[in-house]
Amino acid sequence: MTGATPQQQQPPFKPADVLDARIMGDERTMYALFDYLRSNDPVARVEHPDYRPFWSLSRYDDIKRIGSENDRFLSAPRTVLVPAAFEEALLERFGTRNGLETLIHMDRPKHLKLRRVTREWFLPRSIASLTAEVQALSKEFVDKMQDMGSECDFVRDIALLYPLRIILSILGLPREAEATMLKLTQELFGGQDPSLQRGEGETAGLEVLNDFGAFFSEVIEDRKKNPKDDLATVLANAEVDGEPMNVLDQASYFIITATAGHDTTSATIGGGMKALLEYPGQLALWRDRPDIDSGAAREIIRWVSPVRHMVRTATEDLELHGRQIRAGDNIALWYPAANRDPEAFDHPNRLDLQRDPKAQLAFGYGSHMCLGQHLAALEVSCFFRELLPRLKHMELAGDPEWVKAIFVGGLKSLPVRYTLD
Ligand code: HEM
Repeated sequence: MTGATPQQQQPPFKPADVLDARIMGDERTMYALFDYLRSNDPVARVEHPDYRPFWSLSRYDDIKRIGSENDRFLSAPRTVLVPAAFEEALLERFGTRNGLETLIHMDRPKHLKLRRVTREWFLPRSIASLTAEVQALSKEFVDKMQDMGSECDFVRDIALLYPLRIILSILGLPREAEATMLKLTQELFGGQDPSLQRGEGETAGLEVLNDFGAFFSEVIEDRKKNPKDDLATVLANAEVDGEPMNVLDQASYFIITATAGHDTTSATIGGGMKALLEYPGQLALWRDRPDIDSGAAREIIRWVSPVRHMVRTATEDLELHGRQIRAGDNIALWYPAANRDPEAFDHPNRLDLQRDPKAQLAFGYGSHMCLGQHLAALEVSCFFRELLPRLKHMELAGDPEWVKAIFVGGLKSLPVRYTLD
């Protein structure tokens, strides 16, 4: 028989595949899906029985534009894609479908006022003053790899713990808080992954948020009574418009700082290690060239793009590539798709540590652009600066495994075998 069967003529993907955590939880299929959407359906309408409908953008220019026009495309009331049933449970419990009200969920004017509370702490010069501490922690973790002998699970033993320790240190929380924070963050972000989920259904998700709130309420009470030189003290005693910040805003602020501050960077370091093993020439280049540290770290961040999406809500009608978006419609911005757009990057699927680091969109763009971006870049560059010159050899010692998630994604396991100096 000749010719294609009807099955072969089916498109390989459909727009609703962005909601399939198995497709999104695997690097190769996720990028194949985005390549398909970018070429065939760049403003895709997504309909799915478990989610409210939305538009899905996969081209760099569109994502940059919608992400940065913050007065026309709002971050509230729908910031991240979660199942409609969970949104309803959040609405009932907290009065909004987002549940939390953190910086990422807010718009002007409140967003600017609250962002100002910690702005100073995350400016390049403040972050640069942490360099010695971040270097010391990098050394501690590379020493740990050495102490473990010649094999480890690079994600579980190193990448998950190193950024967590740094953000907890900035917040001023003790090392004993690490296990609790790691578990709660994984339960929050790994929502679709059975191995990370707390349990089935909406109640489990609400419990995670409650536990976060309870944990940070204690910290807030403590820092009000015993102020220290840490970010927790700044958040506990902050005033907005001359009034103390309210308790829900405070707890939400802690949650966004603590969670956004480590899972993303962990995913970047884990995915970055895998990428460097796949590109030994780039690994050798970085090892020998400390002068490219900062740009190389940002290329690794482009490569991994751990935040898969954010959602905006249109305040007015808009026509985009022939599709009619209406006021009130939700639009998902897929950052990994933007970061592999061939219109924006030469050979986007090639790791190139000397590429112009400014273009990448992994931190978003506009007034919500990642507050922790300088810290994230410092953590990535210090870690690989410590590891690479000491690394004589490294290879995979098993199959990498991915977190099944559509919001913050990355590896959950990377078994490696190595020789370290
Ligand atoms: C490679 C690591 C990281 C990536 C890829 C990343 C990515 C992002 C993205 C995409 C946004 C949302 C932008 C938007 O809605 O337009 C964001 C916001 C944010 N990130 Fe990061 N992030 C990283 C690391 C960090 C770190 C280390 C911190 C430290 C605390 C942090 C704190 C925040 C905060 C507080 C916001 C909310 C900012 C706002 O809405 O004004 N992030 N990040």
